[in-house]
Amino acid sequence: MPKKCPKSFITFGYFCRHETIPMNHLPKRYLITSALPYANGLKHIGHLAGAYIPADIYARYLRAQKRDVVFVCGSDEHGTAIPIQAMKEGTTPQAIIDKYHQAMKEDFADLQISFDVYHRTSDPLHHETSREFFSYLHERGELETKETEQYYDEASDTFLADRFIKGTCPHCKSNRAFGDQCESCGTALSPDELIDPVSTISGNKPIKKKTSHWYLPLAKHEQFLRDWILDQHKDDWRPSVVGQCKSWIDGGLQSRAVTRDLNWGVQVPLEDAAGKVLYVWFDAPIGYISATKQWALDNDKDWKPYWYDNDTQLVHFIGKDNIVFHCIIFPVMLKLHGNVLPTNVPANEFLNLEGDKMSTSRNWKLEMRDFINDFVKKENGGDQCVDMLRYYLTQIAPESKDSEFTWKGFQDAVNSELVSIFGNYINRAFVLMHKLCGGKVPRFVEELADEKDHQLVRDIAEMKSKVEASLEHYKFREGLFDVIDLARKGNKYMQEKEPWILAKSLAENPGNQQKIDNCMHHCLQLAANLAVLINPFLPSTAKKICGMMKVVDKMLDWENAGSMKLLSVGYSLREPQLLFRKIEDEEVAQQMEKLKAGLIMAEGKSAENNPVEEKAPQALKGEIVYDDFAKIDLRSGIITSAQKVPKADKLLQLEVDLGFEKRTILSGIAMHFQPEEVIGKQVVVVANLAPRKMRGIDSNGMILMAEDKEGKLHFVQPENAIAPGATVS
Ligand code: MF3
Ligand code: ZN
Repeated sequence: MPKKCPKSFITFGYFCRHETIPMNHLPKRYLITSALPYANGLKHIGHLAGAYIPADIYARYLRAQKRDVVFVCGSDEHGTAIPIQAMKEGTTPQAIIDKYHQAMKEDFADLQISFDVYHRTSDPLHHETSREFFSYLHERGELETKETEQYYDEASDTFLADRFIKGTCPHCKSNRAFGDQCESCGTALSPDELIDPVSTISGNKPIKKKTSHWYLPLAKHEQFLRDWILDQHKDDWRPSVVGQCKSWIDGGLQSRAVTRDLNWGVQVPLEDAAGKVLYVWFDAPIGYISATKQWALDNDKDWKPYWYDNDTQLVHFIGKDNIVFHCIIFPVMLKLHGNVLPTNVPANEFLNLEGDKMSTSRNWKLEMRDFINDFVKKENGGDQCVDMLRYYLTQIAPESKDSEFTWKGFQDAVNSELVSIFGNYINRAFVLMHKLCGGKVPRFVEELADEKDHQLVRDIAEMKSKVEASLEHYKFREGLFDVIDLARKGNKYMQEKEPWILAKSLAENPGNQQKIDNCMHHCLQLAANLAVLINPFLPSTAKKICGMMKVVDKMLDWENAGSMKLLSVGYSLREPQLLFRKIEDEEVAQQMEKLKAGLIMAEGKSAENNPVEEKAPQALKGEIVYDDFAKIDLRSGIITSAQKVPKADKLLQLEVDLGFEKRTILSGIAMHFQPEEVIGKQVVVVANLAPRKMRGIDSNGMILMAEDKEGKLHFVQPENAIAPGATVS
């Protein structure tokens, strides 16, 4: 009894997996989006598997179907992530986005992600588009304004974004907590929860200051969201996506601020909004629209139908951390702005690496760039490595639950599936055809066909609709599995027909030649079918097969799948080339070592520096005159003894010889130096600082230290050894 398909598939067109009926109509056009990656660093294979490869497979599949499809992406260049990265790298936000925009664009191209446009949100076209969007909502009264008190850094004259406030975590008491999250225990925080907050810009305690912002009142749209997601899309969206939306909606929809006090981003297009920019999650998704506009400009096309005509299928490919933005907030914005709504948001779960979460700070990750350098660019024909990675990442795609990349798994997938099943099938078909059929596509004589031949024809036809159904339903793993399964069936067919055995007794049984021809004819037609079917997944491989068959890429049109007439009888084919090489044990071992070495490096770094986060460059303090400076008496000295101060983690008690006298000085360097390390060090002392009692001990002066951007301390010293007591000015 065939299962009935959910209603939504029928209204939205497509083929149903079980009945394979073309539905009433196919959508006119498709707009495929991949999450715009932040231009604050290189992206890893988790990103690739989550939002880029599946979208690329889908776009390639639709193009092969000759459907009207535009696949857009670009760099997300706003938000506090960018200035923060700039601080870490000691450069400007503009330099950061330029660097990473270019790098990400290249990496995607190297991995053959076939965007029709790769745009960037710093582009004036995007600024204009998002300002227009905001104004449209604002003018129609769809936004609320609210005044709140926010942390403000007086020294640098700025409101502090959550990430710019640091303090002690109320939960785990770690001092690595920020205004949005504690880096130690991971708890989500709001700036108000931090104990002893300080500004990461100046190091000062921030004050509270009033500020007003625009908000998107989501609660007003609750009914729309319920109807649209929880009712209309409950069957055709992934359960995890619907589930997350449901818990957001049930949890009560809060108004979301869509502006920020920040000097990096899209200016709020209103008179009284100086120093305010659109919140990055407001402008970034609008980037999909700007990118479409850019594509239209470049190709002399009209972008509007893609965003205004209801016969558009808008599909967002994202990772699960982006669900709320793409399923709740952006759709509400789109609805208010009169745009189309997403048809589906096939969000992926996370990809772990060798048994652990991928993490940038712990350096536990495989960047796209690393794979490109170690495999793709290292060898001639590195394209095969692109397809190997695309294969493995699709095979383990975290579609319904988190999954895991392991180097051993990569090796197994390549060696025992791609090489042994798919590659081997194509290779054998070509080799045998050259050997037994003179290098030409042999004739098929229907009268000699047996049940195995008929079965193979049915398998090929059936596989077309199976793969189609999988892809239409965003089940990329399943689709790929089926293609490999068809190659498996091909191997079995060849094995059972044994044309090489038939060839041995050709002299006694000349009739065997036609049997051989029949078998090889089928095998070659199957090889051509495999090229068509694998094309969306492994585009270079499909092209390579076309090359071996001396046919143009047009053969890869999807409508050709299922046909047993792709190659004409008598057509001569090239010698085969191997489609994939094996992954060697040494390569696996090397990569594992590299991964561990990275981890050790990261651990070393964090142990030394504690915390891992690099320090923000400090804003300059207020101006002083010479006389202010002249009041400070600086002297050189030598540390003659050092010991820990009981119950004070940070303090070392030092004896410092100033030549004319010995001083006891307490210095907050105990987290950085062991007492024995500092004895004998030459130092510069503020010698006329008023004494201060700490932990019951009088401290008479202060030692000058320099702090680098990793937060590591260094002694400030005269270049050469000099007698203690020398003046410093
Ligand atoms: N930059 C975001 C991230 O990496 C994704 C932005 S998607 C968009 O999580 F829709 F906002 F563009
Ligand atoms: Zn914590």
